[in-house]
Amino acid sequence: MAQIIATTNMKGGVGKTTLCVNLAACLARNFGKRVLVVDLDTQISATLSLMSPQDFVRCRKDKRTLRQLISQVVEPGEPKLYDTSDVICSYVCQQKDLALLPGNLDLYDDYIVSSALHHQALASGGEVDFEEAWSNFERNLVKTILAPLDKAYDYIILDCAPGYNLLTRSSFVASDFYILPAKPEPLSIAGIQLLQRRISRLRKGYEGTPSAMEIELLGIVFTMSGNLFTSRYYNQVMQRVQQDFAEHQVFKTQIPNDTQVARAVDTFMPVVLSNPNTSGAKAFVKLAGEFLQKLEFLGGVKEQKSGMSLANMD
Ligand SMILES: Nc1ncnc2c1ncn2[C@@H]1O[C@H](COP(=O)(O)OP(=O)(O)OP(=O)(O)O)[C@@H](O)[C@H]1O
Ligand SMILES: [Mg+2]
Repeated sequence: MAQIIATTNMKGGVGKTTLCVNLAACLARNFGKRVLVVDLDTQISATLSLMSPQDFVRCRKDKRTLRQLISQVVEPGEPKLYDTSDVICSYVCQQKDLALLPGNLDLYDDYIVSSALHHQALASGGEVDFEEAWSNFERNLVKTILAPLDKAYDYIILDCAPGYNLLTRSSFVASDFYILPAKPEPLSIAGIQLLQRRISRLRKGYEGTPSAMEIELLGIVFTMSGNLFTSRYYNQVMQRVQQDFAEHQVFKTQIPNDTQVARAVDTFMPVVLSNPNTSGAKAFVKLAGEFLQKLEFLGGVKEQKSGMSLANMD
């Protein structure tokens, strides 16, 4: 079964997308895993890190983007054009086992979503109120889109927009784990704390419901910064985070600031594919190894927990 991992931080520009696409490419190239990247951000940075603008325009014209899948969930009465797998581009960057579900500049229209949910609430004969219709939608949107892919991939990595929008919340409900990239700077660290609070509030809201949230922190990754490894200031900031989290919740691998990482976007390929001998690319490969180790460890803990709760049901 595919494991679903969200890359997220409330703060923008901390390296979420770069981490998402490079991690995915490493898992496919260096570790032989089947990986899908899903672009849930209207900035379409993940999409344009893995395909050229011309290819994206073609997908958009054919309605083969996440927008189409979302609108099929929002308006189930409308004719269904595609299954999820029809919209996926396989073999992106000519890399075997690397696939992309392209994003779009508009992923959904607030008005259409609100209106569809309002009608749903009315159609239920007053049994479902608007708030309940909204939270059902939030709970099921990303899950519904990804459900048919369960066996097709080892990992599905979600590139979330900064902030905390509907798609991010829906991604959290659908995910097994989340990775939190952060620059070792105060505002980026504040983004970690804000997100942790939001996730725990979201989790509480679903407690005791059939869709209790599974999502857990896989780890914080310190990304790009000036003299990341030498600056006393950056080290102090990182130490503050390390004090607030368990050792296993912070990745040992850090991603250095490397202009080749940023330049790779010009080639529509992550640096691990376009320039694998650079310091940034090597760090991502190391990170991918640590990612797999962590998943093995935490996946085992999760299985034990669910085994225990099943045993309690006897
Ligand atoms: N390790 C790195 N070294 C140098 N530049 C980097 C590195 N990681 C990311 N960048 C650059 O930093 C900028 C922000 O990175 P990225 O888009 O991944 O952040 P983000 O958190 O996804 O942003 P947003 O919140 O807007 O989605 C980009 O221009 C990217 O190329
Ligand atoms: Mg991004």
